[in-house]
Amino acid sequence: MSSMQSSPTVGSGITALRHAIAAAREVAGRTSPNPPVGAVVVRDGIVVGTGATQPPGGPHAEVVALRAAGAAAHGAELFVTLEPCTFHGRTPPCTDAIIAAGIRRVSYVASDSDPRIGAGAAAVLGAAGIIVHHLDDVDGSVAALLAPFRCRVATGRPLVTHKYAMTLDGRIATATGSSRWISGAASRRRVHELRDRVDAIIVGVGTVLGDNPELTTRLDSHWRPVRHPLRVVLDSRGRMPLDARVLDPALPGSTIVATVDAPAERAAALQARGATVVTLPGDGAGRVDVAAMLQHLGRMGANHVLLEGGAEVAGAFHDAGLIDEVHAYIAPKTVAGAAARGPVGGAGVMLMADARHYDVQHVERIGADVLIVAHAASACWWHKEGCDVHRDRWRSARSSPSTVILPSMWC
Ligand SMILES: NC(=O)c1ccc[n+]([C@@H]2O[C@H](COP(=O)([O-])OP(=O)(O)OC[C@H]3O[C@@H](n4cnc5c(N)ncnc54)[C@H](OP(=O)(O)O)[C@@H]3O)[C@@H](O)[C@H]2O)c1
Repeated sequence: MSSMQSSPTVGSGITALRHAIAAAREVAGRTSPNPPVGAVVVRDGIVVGTGATQPPGGPHAEVVALRAAGAAAHGAELFVTLEPCTFHGRTPPCTDAIIAAGIRRVSYVASDSDPRIGAGAAAVLGAAGIIVHHLDDVDGSVAALLAPFRCRVATGRPLVTHKYAMTLDGRIATATGSSRWISGAASRRRVHELRDRVDAIIVGVGTVLGDNPELTTRLDSHWRPVRHPLRVVLDSRGRMPLDARVLDPALPGSTIVATVDAPAERAAALQARGATVVTLPGDGAGRVDVAAMLQHLGRMGANHVLLEGGAEVAGAFHDAGLIDEVHAYIAPKTVAGAAARGPVGGAGVMLMADARHYDVQHVERIGADVLIVAHAASACWWHKEGCDVHRDRWRSARSSPSTVILPSMWC
């Protein structure tokens, strides 16, 4: 794989792990429904093989690294960001390949939260005489890469990142709906980099009617071929104009229109424009039930979705407790106006004591703007311990033959 193949020397396990993390980053956003994993085979302090998860159906990171190492893998050490799989999925167990290659020692960081892992890789590899070592996720890089996968495996739905641009006085558009542009060019480029890493972008039909966006990934000179995520428009009754840009057949990628009770002729017309129309349950107000829509995307294999607005749809996600991460771009300008909207509508909470809490992860100045990245305090996908605690609960429940396993028992 790319530059990682240049046989670097690694003085320590930490350095070897950094190479494995770099390999995983190269495939982040390209592996769903699988997680992006990186692996390196190290022999006498030299990297002799590097690998990362291949697209679904392709080999896992360990197998790619072992193949790259060839005979040099015999007696070598394997460093991998995630516990090797022990089960037959679309590919055979990685533990079989590790044993067959004659690896002497395996070091990994994160435990696999897939229920098929059984007793775990340490038990399988240990029985074959292989030393197994757990490494610390020193700066949280591994957990960050795995969070979307962990969220989907545990809940059936993808991880939700809510991105918005707002003015210093907290508006995402003026009172007349004018919103281009709030943030600067550098911030907007960053959003396209984010689109390149997710499986789907979600907006409401209000954003299509107001802004007529393309929702594609537009990046010049990107370090890898860009990806255009699935476009998802929540449009309960099929109000979307047939000449909306997201329906342009010349656009790369595809569009889903999520409806509740769109008239049959509207659904047929949208389909004739190339969109996939899905009918989902309605919420109390007859609008698309956002939890059902996320479960639909989870069944399609989406690990990570980007919620791009506007306020009404964001409010529905907030009210349902379905925002895991926020990327807020704050531009140093004010527009004011009682009718100008903030980023999140919906019913909201009535008491400050009931506010949803977030942990700020990152604050950065981008041109004139400020980006704040924050994780919902309730989301455990980034916390290794949280997920492991739930997984242990799941494992002990599973060991009882009378127990029926529900996703909510696990994470
Ligand atoms: N600055 C930013 O970052 C940013 C980002 C996005 C948008 N905006 C601005 O926001 C404005 C559009 O705002 P908006 O709030 O109308 O857009 P929106 O939230 O994207 O769309 C709202 C529409 O989505 C449909 N919908 C389907 N299911 C829903 C559900 N469960 N909950 C809520 N709505 C649901 C509703 O129409 P049906 O009932 O017909 O289904 C609703 O009218 C535009 O002016 C745009 O410029 C700004």
